[in-house]
Amino acid sequence: MIVGIGLDLAEVRRYRFDERRLAWFARRVYTDEEMAYAMGKRHWPERLAGFFAAKEAARKAFGQAIPWRAVGVTHERTGKPALHFFGRYTELTRERGVRIVHVTITHTETTAAALVVLES
Ligand SMILES: CC(C)(COP(=O)(O)OP(=O)(O)OC[C@H]1O[C@@H](n2cnc3c(N)ncnc32)[C@H](O)[C@@H]1OP(=O)(O)O)[C@@H](O)C(=O)NCCC(=O)NCCS
Repeated sequence: MIVGIGLDLAEVRRYRFDERRLAWFARRVYTDEEMAYAMGKRHWPERLAGFFAAKEAARKAFGQAIPWRAVGVTHERTGKPALHFFGRYTELTRERGVRIVHVTITHTETTAAALVVLES
């Protein structure tokens, strides 16, 4: 049964950070894995926007403010994204009776979007 959904859009231009802002976001918002993934790509602002949209979509789906670095996007070998929870949020899915967390991300030059669906 679907027990939560969250959708979010992010404007890519807001994620074209200069060096100082990039370092701040790397410390406060993105996981090390997200940073490594994004910065390995030519169009990294699109990736950072997509990851931010995924974090916001997760907040909406769960209906609570999960700290930015407590939820992060990882990738399966096929490229399919997945959400992982860290720190004291590792148990969030179990506590909320969520068995599967679905996430999908898309991005263009201007916009990124993410959808999160929670299944019990
Ligand atoms: C998945 C796919 C359709 C995305 O195509 P696209 O329109 O060029 O890309 P979008 O901007 O809409 O989405 C890109 C995002 O899709 C997600 N994605 C990548 N591979 C994926 C996969 N196999 N399944 C689900 N999502 C995937 C990633 O989050 C990716 O973002 P990233 O490049 O920053 O990691 C394309 O990469 C593809 O055909 N991959 C291989 C085949 C496959 O597994 N297809 C699954 C759908 S049938």
